[in-house]
Amino acid sequence: MKKSVLLVLAMIAVLVFASFATTIVMTAGAVGREYQVLQQQIKVFEKENPGIKVVLMPMPNSSTDRYNLYVTYLSAGMPQPDVLMLDVIWPPAFANFLVNLNPYFSKDELKDFFPGAIRADTYNGKLVAAPWFIDAGLLYYRKDLLKKYGFEPPKTWDELIHEAQVISQKEGIKGFVWQGAAYEGLTCDFMEYVHSYGGAILNDKGQVVSDSPMVKKALQTMVDMIYKYKISPVGVTTYMEEETRHIFQNGDAVFMRNWPYCWPLLNGKDSKVAGKVGVEPLPEGTGFAGVHHSATLGGWQLGINKNSEHIAAAVKLIKFLTSPQQEAYKAINAGQNPSRLSVYNNPAIIKANPFYKSLWPVFKNAEPRPKSPIYAQISEILYTNVNAALTKQLTVDQAVAKITKQLKDLLGQ
Ligand code: GLC
Repeated sequence: MKKSVLLVLAMIAVLVFASFATTIVMTAGAVGREYQVLQQQIKVFEKENPGIKVVLMPMPNSSTDRYNLYVTYLSAGMPQPDVLMLDVIWPPAFANFLVNLNPYFSKDELKDFFPGAIRADTYNGKLVAAPWFIDAGLLYYRKDLLKKYGFEPPKTWDELIHEAQVISQKEGIKGFVWQGAAYEGLTCDFMEYVHSYGGAILNDKGQVVSDSPMVKKALQTMVDMIYKYKISPVGVTTYMEEETRHIFQNGDAVFMRNWPYCWPLLNGKDSKVAGKVGVEPLPEGTGFAGVHHSATLGGWQLGINKNSEHIAAAVKLIKFLTSPQQEAYKAINAGQNPSRLSVYNNPAIIKANPFYKSLWPVFKNAEPRPKSPIYAQISEILYTNVNAALTKQLTVDQAVAKITKQLKDLLGQ
């Protein structure tokens, strides 16, 4: 047979096979190593499930941008994407568009997941997403530089400011980098300062309590880091996670606030700080009764689009990606914390990420953001006004007054 005939036959065979295979589309993040790691996992999944093909749909890095895309897809009633990675704060907003996963996870199985994540994923009694990985804000620091100047890792923001000032001036590098752009990441950072000074934005009853000296002090601390103490560059007001990681990984900063995914990258082949990095809880505030170390609870969930035409295949994929084996693989290779408690008993993941063990209380006690179907609007009020204060468009008092008024209007208080 001629080569060209063989080729045509081969192409027909591929097309016939493809039309028999079920294709599901899954949204995917590309922060750090997560996309490459997911691609590897999908290869394994497709091998184990020859009738299913998974097409990954890369998402922008900003959680806020992803949210806006999902609003478009889901409100248009589209059948794809079939599987959605969802930020821990979104289940209430998207609950009506997602499949109830309760039939697919036994009560016993659910006990293995972080209780805070299960709470976040349960809305009106339904499990609308399955926890995939957990995040908590962490303080990364340069062990070598702190040692050189005789410092211990800072316990308070004041200590951090002092150490960052001394070291950054002597070394000619930045003191402290964090996420100050106007997006969801800034809400996460801001809430850590607010909580660390013993403040709150909403109380347990959902009432707006942001007009407090603790909240003002929290925001003042962030502003002062840029303009008064000059430990953070004005550029932080445009940084998201990856910008801060690149600076720190390049050896250009003493301290960084970021999530666990940075660890394998900071210690990777092409990192200038491999072996020189330590991880500690974020510092606490001073001067108020309720000061404490606080980390914002982050993390991503997997949900299924109610309009998907391939729900059974989508369930298979979610069960696979949240299996103990795959969570361990992801933790070791992408540095993303397992959402299953039992996976932390696997010595290989502790070896790869030793701080999972030493910072266990940070992950266990990470503080959630408000749970509300209109969370996106609440957060927008926070990050917009906080960013305006960080860029000197508003004073701290003006920003806090605006936050308070806008939240009260939004929530009808
Ligand atoms: C991380 C967290 C997520 C948070 C986001 C903010 O992806 O897991 O919960 O909203 O960062 O940038």
